[in-house]
Amino acid sequence: MKVIRTISGLRQELNSLKQTRKDGGSVGLVPTMGFLHAGHASLMTRAREMSDTVVLSIFVNPIQFGPGEDYETYPRDEERDLALAERHGIDIVFIPTVQEMYPKQVKTKIVVSELTSLLCGASRPGHFDGVTTVVSKLINIIKPNRAFFGLKDAQQVAVLQQMVTDLNLDVEIIPCPIIREKDGLALSSRNVYLSQEERTQALILSRSLNDVREAMNCGKATTAAEARLMLNEIIHSAPLAVIEYAEVLSFPELSRVEDDTLLVDLQGQVIMALAVKFGKTRLIDNLLFTPKEVLSLV
Ligand code: PAF
Repeated sequence: MKVIRTISGLRQELNSLKQTRKDGGSVGLVPTMGFLHAGHASLMTRAREMSDTVVLSIFVNPIQFGPGEDYETYPRDEERDLALAERHGIDIVFIPTVQEMYPKQVKTKIVVSELTSLLCGASRPGHFDGVTTVVSKLINIIKPNRAFFGLKDAQQVAVLQQMVTDLNLDVEIIPCPIIREKDGLALSSRNVYLSQEERTQALILSRSLNDVREAMNCGKATTAAEARLMLNEIIHSAPLAVIEYAEVLSFPELSRVEDDTLLVDLQGQVIMALAVKFGKTRLIDNLLFTPKEVLSLV
């Protein structure tokens, strides 16, 4: 496994790898901000299965953090990340500095409209511009055939898919399933911020999603309004939970499903998406489903 910290070094290595293969070989990119966990491991495994060369990037991207957010304190552990990457058969780990990625003040940004103004985009203005800008830089530098992202950040996946389509980028976005702890908590690098009590109460996120899915299955929640109400009521039963949003939207369009819409009438995929704060820690979770399939189980 090679650890490369410069853009020129990475380009050189990828070029020489391409020259050694007759077909050029396929490249898979796993972009991360480090402090890797089993969720990232699942992306690395999928990338390894689908690519000849796998590049893992580790970069805590300052431009996707807003003022007062946790950029400075975002957990970092390069040594542990490198050991995990090696165990997952990564070929190249790209760890640039901020200076390497943004040598001068950034004057160009990639902005995806509409999809970025709701859910996490509403409370984190500019966040997705930072994500789309850094991911398009990584795509331009690495030229991967595929890039792998976790569906815990489902809005991020929708935004990146839109960017790739709109800009005709020659890369396939591969969404990968959410990985959870045994008790249901979705894995996140930010889970380390939770106190023991917050960690216990945070289980309300996955429980609310599962309970509402059950309620849909047995006909107790039939409209979007009923689903939203149930999500809110269940999450409010955890005293420390402060809801930022509990939404029902179409996916990947992210159009809000009107209150009186019967879920069974919806075509395509629907997402129930949550952002909930426990103390200073903001957690997100979601459940993606196809109503026709869920509700036909009734
Ligand atoms: O999902 C993340 O960890 C980040 O948003 C990403 C895609 C690596 C961009 O910095």
